[in-house]
Amino acid sequence: MSRRRQDKTWPPKVLKARDTPSLADYIKSDKCKNVVLMLGAGVSTAAGIPDFRSPKTGLYANLARLKLPYPEAVFDISFFRKNPVPFYNLAHELYPGKFRPTLSHSFVRLLNEKKLLLKCFTQNIDTLERLAGVPDDKIIEAHGSFATQRCIECKTEYDGELMKKHVEEKKIARCDRCKGLIKPDIVFFGEPLPSSFINSIPVLEEADLLIIMGTSLTVHPFAALADLVSHDKCPRALINLDKVGDLGHRPDDVLLLGRCDHVVLDLCKELGWEDRLRALWAETELETERGEGGGGADGQENKEEDEEEKEREEDEQVQTEIDALTAAVAESLKIASPPAEKSPEEDTSESPEGQSPPPESTQEKL
Ligand code: OAD
Repeated sequence: MSRRRQDKTWPPKVLKARDTPSLADYIKSDKCKNVVLMLGAGVSTAAGIPDFRSPKTGLYANLARLKLPYPEAVFDISFFRKNPVPFYNLAHELYPGKFRPTLSHSFVRLLNEKKLLLKCFTQNIDTLERLAGVPDDKIIEAHGSFATQRCIECKTEYDGELMKKHVEEKKIARCDRCKGLIKPDIVFFGEPLPSSFINSIPVLEEADLLIIMGTSLTVHPFAALADLVSHDKCPRALINLDKVGDLGHRPDDVLLLGRCDHVVLDLCKELGWEDRLRALWAETELETERGEGGGGADGQENKEEDEEEKEREEDEQVQTEIDALTAAVAESLKIASPPAEKSPEEDTSESPEGQSPPPESTQEKL
């Protein structure tokens, strides 16, 4: 029997069992003080932003209209130098301001509020962690973000409002000094990751729990972070539609397969944190309404309604908005709509149907 196959049958060392109640017990125990997160695009799909590699709904399966030599070219620095138009077209669709954080983003904020969050490493460029209220010093945007931009030649920073205007009008922004192309500070293939990422790698040694959410773990060096936590004292929890990387091979790996928001809600119910999670998420609705995109709900609290009725109505309304946003993005990207996402209460399935395993190849980011 191979070593890997044996691992699956070993009893857990740190946790009582590899399930949600045991994970919740551990999070509440004195042993769990430092939680590290690794996030990917699956955390934001419920906000209406497609992920990259899902077979039908992912961005890379739906970029034919941009006439790219290969899908990842849209994020390739050599290609961008020759032809920035496809990226600007995509940026027009994905630009922050239209999207509301998900329950899973609010969960990260809740972990911080509980003084458990050591670092949140994210591959996402949508800035929804910030919008959910996670403090900047706890977020490592490993693949950069749309928050700032600069000239790819002389590196001079470019004004945010001007950039937004260019993206809105699908015009290519150029540097005032040298006329070089302006690009958001998103890490493209062929570019190094930010120093903040490299400098934060040592925190993984301090982690008592690693939670990996919504990523195919195919892009390196980010994916390699999952190997850097201690075998002996740091359980790893995977919250994802499908099993990825080598998760499941360590004795304290917990596989919580399903939609991020549903799994997070279940976990918070076990932890007794559900009300606080919902309250933090409700705050993101207000924030989004205040923001320019106004992606949040327009429903007002009816104080005379009893609490249960109100909650159900809000859930339905948010679901309608998520469906509308998803349909709008799908329409603009000319993609097939993903199967309607059930509310966490409706969805009792642990493992979704029709999900393909993640690609086997590993891309090098550097
Ligand atoms: P991928 O699209 O590669 O993987 C997303 C993962 O999330 C897949 O395993 C999906 O099955 C899963 N997923 C989707 N929706 C989900 C949901 N609601 N709940 C749970 N799981 C869900 O995205 P990343 O791993 O983030 O680089 O991709 C990594 C990098 O590749 C990106 O940062 C991007 C891209 O090239 C950039 O530089 C922009």
